Amino acid sequence: MKRLQIRPGIDAVGAIDWDRRLFDALIPLPDGTSYNSYLVHGSDKTALVDTVDPAMDMVLTGNLDDLKVEQIDYVICNHAEQDHAGSIPIILELYPEAKVVCTPKCRGMLIDLLHLDEGSFMTVNDGDTLSLGNRTFEFIHAPWVHWPETMVSYLREDRVLFSCDFFGSHLAQSALYVQDEGQVYESAKRYFGEIMMPFRANIKKNMERLEGYPIDVIAPSHGPVYDRPEFILGAYKSWVYDNPRNVVLLPYVSMHGSTKDMVDHLVGALVERGVNVRQFDLTVADPGKIAIALVDSATLVLGTCTVLGGAHPLAANAVFLANALRPDLKYASIIGSFGWGGRTIEQITGMLTNIKPEVLPPVYIKGSPSEADYAALDALAETIALKHRENGYK
Ligand code: FEO
Repeated sequence: MKRLQIRPGIDAVGAIDWDRRLFDALIPLPDGTSYNSYLVHGSDKTALVDTVDPAMDMVLTGNLDDLKVEQIDYVICNHAEQDHAGSIPIILELYPEAKVVCTPKCRGMLIDLLHLDEGSFMTVNDGDTLSLGNRTFEFIHAPWVHWPETMVSYLREDRVLFSCDFFGSHLAQSALYVQDEGQVYESAKRYFGEIMMPFRANIKKNMERLEGYPIDVIAPSHGPVYDRPEFILGAYKSWVYDNPRNVVLLPYVSMHGSTKDMVDHLVGALVERGVNVRQFDLTVADPGKIAIALVDSATLVLGTCTVLGGAHPLAANAVFLANALRPDLKYASIIGSFGWGGRTIEQITGMLTNIKPEVLPPVYIKGSPSEADYAALDALAETIALKHRENGYK
């Protein structure tokens, strides 16, 4: 296969995982993913930037074989999570002279997770440099993109940023660089929503930190490489800094149709008032699509029927996940139906502990909706439209 290179002497040696469909036993991967690893040759030394998921270590070692790599001096580990660090042990077996270059916190995590020998490491502080001869790495500590130990590695002479999870996307493709920005935008937004959004404040700080670096190429460790970095930097800026949009996210579950009737009515009432809606049936919804919608929706309205005195478990699960992802939601409400009672409202509002939106009056009714209930839904739509307008959400 043709060798993929960012520059002469900077080879992509990672693995494309076309068929993986689930990450962290939670996140659907409709388009697969990749575990990018890069071999950087200097005039004196050679470094491997990140490794691959151990399930695909043969791809990495095969690529190194093909390139007839006899010496690796450094394995730069930007992040201890196993999809990037998990093949370090096999690399150290093949290249026992290599030192693992990482943050001090990452060192401890690698010892815990991979039981690496304590003598295998060279830890680097924020701003430290490492010369390969004619090429120089600068290490920038970037905590919480995605774990507390993460860093990014900047190759000065080539102006390449090796960003690991930061700016990544779960997208398998054979080409090295972004081919279709629309497709990558959705994959990267899904990735941001699922992985980065809980750390939005840290992402802002790390984005600001990178402003001082001239960057020609961003080479993440998932998904395609960016030869137009302003595309992904601009997208991140909008997700991190912009106001939420004039959008209601409406995940719902309905057993016998009453809650669905309410959802349909509310959607119509919102649209009439100029509010956009993203509606998801939780019995079939892809949680990644909900994560995408959470990145910039201003309001969450949960539609749930009542099961055993509380919210339907699918509805509770959706709210649990939304709360964990810490979106910038400003408003929330609940609509739905019960047969004889329940504590759904208290249960669901009590779960929104991280995001603390203003809770708008729920419409939670007995049986199937009456004219008065539809009027209450109209009133909820009116309140939402007014709140969005007052805040200038577009
Ligand atoms: Fe791709 Fe946080 O690992």
